Amino acid sequence: NSPYHILAIETSCDETSVAVVKNGTEVLSNVVSSQIDTHRRFGGVVPEIASRKHVESITVILEEALAEAGVGPDRIDAVAVTQGPGLVGALLVGVVAAKSLALALDVPLIGTHHIAGHIYANRLIGEIRYPALALVVSGGHTELVLLEAEGRFRIVGRTRDDAVGEAYDKVARALSLPYPGGPHVDRMAQEAEDAIELPRAWLEPDSYDFSFSGLKSAVLAEINRANMKGEPIRAHALARGFQESVIDVVTTKAMRAAREFGASQLLLCGGVAANKGIRARLTELCAEAALPLLVPPLKLCTDNAAMIAAAADLKWRCGQFDTLDLKAEAQLSL
Ligand code: KG4
Ligand code: ZN
Repeated sequence: NSPYHILAIETSCDETSVAVVKNGTEVLSNVVSSQIDTHRRFGGVVPEIASRKHVESITVILEEALAEAGVGPDRIDAVAVTQGPGLVGALLVGVVAAKSLALALDVPLIGTHHIAGHIYANRLIGEIRYPALALVVSGGHTELVLLEAEGRFRIVGRTRDDAVGEAYDKVARALSLPYPGGPHVDRMAQEAEDAIELPRAWLEPDSYDFSFSGLKSAVLAEINRANMKGEPIRAHALARGFQESVIDVVTTKAMRAAREFGASQLLLCGGVAANKGIRARLTELCAEAALPLLVPPLKLCTDNAAMIAAAADLKWRCGQFDTLDLKAEAQLSL
């Protein structure tokens, strides 16, 4: 078996990333250029600006990724790209770049699902044992996905309103913390001496779905109440109460689903997998249940192109390629 290289491109939101991955799982380079500083002053990602920034950086990042990998363009065997879901204008930049490259190098093009990327980031650190249950928590997604077999996904639960990361970011904003607020709320929750008890949205007894808008509203209501009474806002205790509610619900539902579907492994992924509280609780619960847990290192949890290569590699292995008609899709099912 001769070595092969997949070059992957990810531009679904506010990160421009290009990676070169050898033999499916050996990351030679994974360059990520974040636009966060640009979007921060608007308190969130501005789609129009994101697209323009991707256009400005894509060729530079591409060259950087090839140079860092020490692999010439002639040794690229396939080009993978995030096809969706995401901001359509942002996705389009990556898709057009990938098509041009595949055409110029005369190699296959592989369109990839962003969430499959987050899930298969775990391939880069260990072997996945099926059936596996993935808890996908990011700024745009909150899903419990059962991987029945390689590349066979079944969504068993999803958020009915805000994604976890989105709720973190909104709570952070209400507490006047900078964007993206997840890491700040996480840090404050760790530092807090006490917690303000907040509700948990369990939904129907047998449901694996999530809801975080009520929890977010409870935080806002507490801030308003304090403001009306002229009391100081107990930001740390609120962050702790919010985080405890989130951790309780997501980890309890993930463990229950893992049991019900007979998962041999639990995978944690997406940007919110960087959360210290969620990591710690899942590690504890999985140890108790003797359920193996895989969690990628932080750099592979947030948006990056190496995870796209890891997912595309499964398609590469069975020769599942796309044509140059590949379209960027804001909504795309797994
Ligand atoms: O996966 P990601 O990079 O982008 C999406 O595809 O959405 O996730 C970004 C999200 C943001 O909402 C950010 O606030 C959140 O992940 N996040 C965190 C932490 N680090 C990042 N949320 C909670 N705790 C953290 N430590
Ligand atoms: Zn993502």
